[in-house]
Amino acid sequence: MKSLENINDFLRKAKRGPAVITQKDIGDIIAFTGCTHDWKVVDAGSGSGFLSLFLGNLGCKVYTYEKEERFFDIASANIKKAGFKNVKIKNADITKGIKEKDVDLVTLDMKNPERVVGHAFKALKSGGYLVVYSMHIEQIQDLWKEVQKYEFGKPKILEKLQREWQIEGDTYTRPKTQMLAHTGFLTFIRKI
Ligand SMILES: C[S@@+](CC[C@H](N)C(=O)[O-])C[C@H]1O[C@@H](n2cnc3c(N)ncnc32)[C@H](O)[C@@H]1O
Repeated sequence: MKSLENINDFLRKAKRGPAVITQKDIGDIIAFTGCTHDWKVVDAGSGSGFLSLFLGNLGCKVYTYEKEERFFDIASANIKKAGFKNVKIKNADITKGIKEKDVDLVTLDMKNPERVVGHAFKALKSGGYLVVYSMHIEQIQDLWKEVQKYEFGKPKILEKLQREWQIEGDTYTRPKTQMLAHTGFLTFIRKI
């Protein structure tokens, strides 16, 4: 990143492949897990690398998995351009396993996250979090079936709507006509 840029300035100009996670959702992931600079994080799929870069910007040691080569190339280029040595990307399918151990946080923003639950349980330390971003409630139902097989606590499921307001000169202040309504659900699952 250039010296006067922050992570938001950088990501605004970064290359995008698949849909990226929004700041409101990233904010909740950080706030509700208490994620901080010395955490070891596993993230999949990398997509454009936005979530990984945000967590890397906090100082976390991030291992991000991306199975599609074309998105791996986009995320790799963004990570390289940011210059974050603490974000490592792998061109790998996370459903085949997670190599990292004693992980504080596993974030999943990908299809069929239920296929990663067992690997995440093994990789996570006690008290660590699995956070899953899902577009549809049916995905959470599939996830929940798998989660129940392991010693995880009761999940917390969040949906957050965000409405921005605008100032119109000196005359009035009101909500913008369009709002960022549904992006996805966030499911927080803590290893006991
Ligand atoms: C919606 S995007 C993730 C966006 C990312 N969170 C961001 O903020 O830039 C989903 C990504 O998951 C990848 N993916 C899907 N299944 C995967 C798997 N089993 N292992 C690794 N990556 C996977 C897809 O190729 C896609 O790039």
